[in-house]
Amino acid sequence: MIVTTGGRYNEETLQKARDIAMRYGLEFAMRRKRSVKELNERYNDDVMIVGNDGLSIAPQSCKESVKYHPNFSMVRAKRLLKNENDALVEAAELESGMSFLDCTMGLGADSVIASMAVGNQGKVTALEHSFILYLLTKEGLASYNADNDIINEAMRNIKALHVNYETYLKTLADNSFDVIYFDPMFDEEISKSQSLRTITPVTHTETLSETAVEEAKRVAAEKVVLKDHFRSKRFEQFGFEQQIRKTSKVHYGIISTNVQVD
Ligand SMILES: C[S@@+](CC[C@H](N)C(=O)[O-])C[C@H]1O[C@@H](n2cnc3c(N)ncnc32)[C@H](O)[C@@H]1O
Repeated sequence: MIVTTGGRYNEETLQKARDIAMRYGLEFAMRRKRSVKELNERYNDDVMIVGNDGLSIAPQSCKESVKYHPNFSMVRAKRLLKNENDALVEAAELESGMSFLDCTMGLGADSVIASMAVGNQGKVTALEHSFILYLLTKEGLASYNADNDIINEAMRNIKALHVNYETYLKTLADNSFDVIYFDPMFDEEISKSQSLRTITPVTHTETLSETAVEEAKRVAAEKVVLKDHFRSKRFEQFGFEQQIRKTSKVHYGIISTNVQVD
């Protein structure tokens, strides 16, 4: 992957682009009035664009570029600030001070909501297997200004890691996170935001494995949560208790790991 600036850039943007390239060991290229497609072709590689107004990626395998924007999470975040309900927070029973492992970070929308719910005393770690998506979301979370201190802080508090969740779960001690969360790519189209749909070619689409769920059950002190299409077979296949939501095609499944035995 190469890093460049937007067509128009200022000194700060140029510095930021150089800095990102250096930190990740990537090549930096001056834009020199070239289109992103020209850069894709010239370098035969994916491109990250550091614009004056934000970050985008242009993977070679995608028709369009995708800009980092917390999109839907902002609507949910504003609802949380008004003490309104959020389906993920309710399903996972997230409270201040809890720890949350998001195994499928994507563009980080769910992680931002979880981070707001667990607050400064809590901890959110988010895993992403696709490097280009990890880079976009990690840098976006670190620099996007949501014009709200609580949301900004929630974004900055997320620790993003570029790793396969199955590999990472195996390194963790028993009960080391309160909640482990999976939001795998659905087969059904409704699951994805417009941005995720555009960059589907660079997302990892491997299906949830028995090993990953078994590891998650060992690592989760409270529960493992799966978000999936309401018709998904995965709820039953892995023993998740499917919570029925009559008004949504997206359902949550729960495996409680903190079960008291009399
Ligand atoms: C449906 S998206 C998650 C969307 C996310 N919940 C959000 O709010 O933006 C699923 C993401 O999980 C990633 N993924 C798939 N398999 C993975 C794995 N084994 N380890 C880590 N990430 C994985 C995909 O690349 C994709 O970005």
